[in-house]
Amino acid sequence: MRINHTGEICAQALYHGQGVVSKTGEVQLKMQQAAIEEGDHLAWCRKRLDELGSHTSYLNPLWYAGSFCIGMVAGMVGDAWSLGFVAETERQVIRHLETHLHLLPEKDQRSHRILAQMEKDEARHRDEAIASGARELPAMIKQGMALSAKVMVKTVYWI
Ligand SMILES: [Fe+2]
Ligand SMILES: [Fe+2]
Repeated sequence: MRINHTGEICAQALYHGQGVVSKTGEVQLKMQQAAIEEGDHLAWCRKRLDELGSHTSYLNPLWYAGSFCIGMVAGMVGDAWSLGFVAETERQVIRHLETHLHLLPEKDQRSHRILAQMEKDEARHRDEAIASGARELPAMIKQGMALSAKVMVKTVYWI
């Protein structure tokens, strides 16, 4: 849950960053709306973490700052690429959530419901980005994103 929480912080920061530099008001609005929903997700994860008696990652301010900068860079390249970045981010988040849903203990229905709802929302974010004209990112960028997500997951597991 701590990993999911940080993931949502990163997603929100990316979209904040992308929203700040987006070229059209329409894309900016989309980024802001998505960021608000990521805010709901991170609130759910945080509440669940509290209930489970655990803490959020101590490095969250760093994750936020780093992701915000990445979001700004992605946003500056242009709206179509920026939307492509959203679509790919959500695809990777969904993949992670699916794996996590399988790993969750059967009796933890509460976490299960939270993650399932998040997965639905992320799929909508992905589809909306694609419908708004997202461009498919080069494989190298996708791999880079997956690699940084892996670094985040491994680090946040411990701190
Ligand atoms: Fe989310
Ligand atoms: Fe999302």
